[in-house]
Amino acid sequence: MISTENRLDKKEVIPMKNVMILTGAGQIGMAIARRMGYGMKIVIGDKKMENAQRISRTMNEAGFDTVAREMDLSSRDSIKALIAQAQSYGPITMLVNAAGVSPSQAPIEAILKVDLYGTAVLLEEVGKVIAPGGVGVTISSQSGHRMPALTPEEDEQLACTPTEELLKLDILQPENIKDTLHAYQMAKRCNEKRVMAESVKWGEKGARVNSISPGIIVTPLAIDEFNGPRGDFYKNMFAKCPAGRPGTADEVANVAELLMGPKGAFITGSDFLIDGGATASYFYGPLKPET
Ligand SMILES: NC(=O)c1ccc[n+]([C@@H]2O[C@H](COP(=O)([O-])OP(=O)(O)OC[C@H]3O[C@@H](n4cnc5c(N)ncnc54)[C@H](O)[C@@H]3O)[C@@H](O)[C@H]2O)c1
Repeated sequence: MISTENRLDKKEVIPMKNVMILTGAGQIGMAIARRMGYGMKIVIGDKKMENAQRISRTMNEAGFDTVAREMDLSSRDSIKALIAQAQSYGPITMLVNAAGVSPSQAPIEAILKVDLYGTAVLLEEVGKVIAPGGVGVTISSQSGHRMPALTPEEDEQLACTPTEELLKLDILQPENIKDTLHAYQMAKRCNEKRVMAESVKWGEKGARVNSISPGIIVTPLAIDEFNGPRGDFYKNMFAKCPAGRPGTADEVANVAELLMGPKGAFITGSDFLIDGGATASYFYGPLKPET
């Protein structure tokens, strides 16, 4: 059991709590934080301070103990500052990374910098300080599953290249990235590979880390996609997937609850697809692209 008090001097006692870092104050992040963050100090970081504050207020009014902070996932300094603030409240025992930009929201460079590089840095930096028994999840995407297989060498590059060298990889250079969807797919494939490699390091600290790959989940990000250039493609995708509907953030939290709780104690370095069967239909059903 991790101590809940830290005695600074004889007179002053600052109550300490186990701390959750939540990056990305969107619907998926909030659903997971609400499911797992009871009794903890939850430090919410988002590039848009208003998003972090909105979710912080909603959660505080529902009995949680949260604090909002502006942070940028694409900046190592910003990640380190977030971690330092989190450590001031107690040991970091949970990480939920649900920050990201989608193919309709950002250009190729921003997608690679935030979703690919930023996630890799966050997993690395939190992995240095995660408490024994700690757990992390990062939100990847079905997009990483839909892209054809990479070579074993490319997979290993995405998994193990030092973070500051990642964006210099040949496979991530502009001439090798077709469009923003391809950039997003590479970022999400990289998330899964980084989680595998990081789980080995987290394991040395007695901690676990996994990724969740959602299909279409109704959130502001998905609504931007429905209204973006690939809107019809997305609407068709959930209409023709076995579940016949998009998912909800709370259903993603169901998976997170398993992965982050004691019943997930033997699960680390894994990725979990939760997409209503859309990927299955894409390969072997009515969503299969015509060739
Ligand atoms: N909604 C879906 O259908 C879906 C499907 C698959 C994967 N995902 C992934 O789930 C994650 C969460 O998405 P969501 O649907 O909850 O979206 P959302 O738009 O509700 O939340 C994403 C949050 O990330 C923040 N953010 C963006 N760039 C940031 C940066 N550089 N630093 C810090 N914060 C930043 C945004 O401001 C926003 O608050 C993303 O990684 C997304 O790729 C979503």
